Amino acid sequence: MSTTAEETHNKPAREVADEAARRRTFAVISHPDAGKSTLTEALALHAAAITSAGAVHGKGDRRGVTSDWMDMEQARGISITSAALRIDYGDCVLNLLDTPGHADFSEDTYRVLSAVDCAIMLLDSAKGLEPQTLKLFEVCRARNMPVITFVNKWDRPGREPLELLDEIEQRIGLRPTPLNWPVGIAGDFRGLIDRSEGTYTKLTRTPGGATRALEEHLTPEQAAEAEGETWVQATEEMELLGEIGAEFDEKSFMAGESSPVLFGAALPNFGISKLLQTLVDLAPAPPDPVDAKGERRPLDAPFSGQVFKMQANMDKAHRDRMAFVRIASGRFERGMVLTHANTGKPFATKYTQAVFGSERSTVEAAYPGDVIALVNAAALSVGDTLYAGPKVEFAPIPSFAPEHFAVARAKDSGRYKQFQRGMAQLDAEGVVQVLTSDVRGEQAPVLAAVGPLQFDVVSHRMAEEFNAPVELAHLEYTMARRTDADSAPAAHALSGAEVLKRRADGELLVLIHNKYRLRVIERDNPDLVLEPLLAGGAD
Ligand code: G4P
Repeated sequence: MSTTAEETHNKPAREVADEAARRRTFAVISHPDAGKSTLTEALALHAAAITSAGAVHGKGDRRGVTSDWMDMEQARGISITSAALRIDYGDCVLNLLDTPGHADFSEDTYRVLSAVDCAIMLLDSAKGLEPQTLKLFEVCRARNMPVITFVNKWDRPGREPLELLDEIEQRIGLRPTPLNWPVGIAGDFRGLIDRSEGTYTKLTRTPGGATRALEEHLTPEQAAEAEGETWVQATEEMELLGEIGAEFDEKSFMAGESSPVLFGAALPNFGISKLLQTLVDLAPAPPDPVDAKGERRPLDAPFSGQVFKMQANMDKAHRDRMAFVRIASGRFERGMVLTHANTGKPFATKYTQAVFGSERSTVEAAYPGDVIALVNAAALSVGDTLYAGPKVEFAPIPSFAPEHFAVARAKDSGRYKQFQRGMAQLDAEGVVQVLTSDVRGEQAPVLAAVGPLQFDVVSHRMAEEFNAPVELAHLEYTMARRTDADSAPAAHALSGAEVLKRRADGELLVLIHNKYRLRVIERDNPDLVLEPLLAGGAD
């Protein structure tokens, strides 16, 4: 049968739509120690994406999912940068973008969330909502992002399931809709009931306390016989859920108002297949992107993508700088020449790589939802758009509320030129936000960060890469508020606060010592414009 000209013409468009439809791009948000690396490993193992268990998990050796590119990172044994992990599962391609889980997180952590369509909120069953989870959740909320909740470590003593659900609803206003229900209390965990199918999966521990659990499937009758009173209690709790209307609801899930909840345990690999299936069935595929003018761009429009993260010094020998781009529309083919929207200049993609844990392999083609890494990307900054065909530009990625501030000075005043160049570069890359004021002068910019680790990266790179070692003097401020030109004179007169201008966008920020000081300022100056910034912040 011959194909018509129209069919031939439409083939690439159909291909892009089909490829996008089978992709799920997501991140795991959690507090350190909730089990993110263990879960990542379990997901990857379960989906058979990686062969060796040790490749992902382990505090001292996280190189499977993250990178070991920087000396400092190796020395501290933590991940400073985020990478993407591709997990093939059935017909689906799951792109898991890593948000560094260390307490010293940085703006990178937040920015990753601008490149995903869905988040898994991972909770420790004994701890519930913890501070870092809450901060990251705020970013998801600001974007109305769908969130799937996974209550982990159910094999250990923990809290009551109903109490955990109540905490989610009360503290963050997210309506929990459990998809499965645990039989047996945390610590004496027997198995999980699938709420929609009514089936029971019994947890069978392997002899000798081995950590690989086996899943045994029972009918409700078999389960009632096997679990006795515990089963009765679980089914009663489930009936209660039915009465309070905790049923999955697609519309409110997609709006970020309700969250399907799964109970499980990543370490013994229990409840992981349900999580994978939930991602496939419920998590959204990449949507049509919306450009800076608010116009929808069809997925099958020519290639477009946005830089959500920059990383430098990955290869010492080449001193390269890499830009991680999330594809928004179209098919990417290696070798394509793209246009950099900010400058209108061409950008060659001959050496583009796909990112898979620490492995970097050359990518031939990629689709919406995928992450590609562009090398030699010194001209690019976080938030920049690259496109093929007619011009398109996406809205910048918002900067997040800094909580740490330090004055930077060149240690050697003779190296001021290098100092300035370095500061401009690190600002453009989004390593820190650089703030200036006439009072302090150009020679003493104030660096603003979400996590103090960002300052270490600045010190390291200024010395190693720009040959301009810096001295950092920490400031006592812990929060920033946005003000406007009309309010600036009054803001300048405040005591215990300081007005600075962000270099990147000219935004005027008022730095304030703490929330008590803020309250006093707000009380005494009711007309002053002091707007909160997105996420983070001690407020
Ligand atoms: P993180 O990336 O979120 O920081 O957490 P990570 O996976 O490193 O897990 C933190 C600790 O919690 C680890 O123990 C891990 O084995 C344990 N853990 C994770 N999921 C589960 C679970 O479902 N059940 C149980 N019982 N434990 C779990 P660790 O002793 O701190 O580290 P390690 O020596 O095992 O690496």
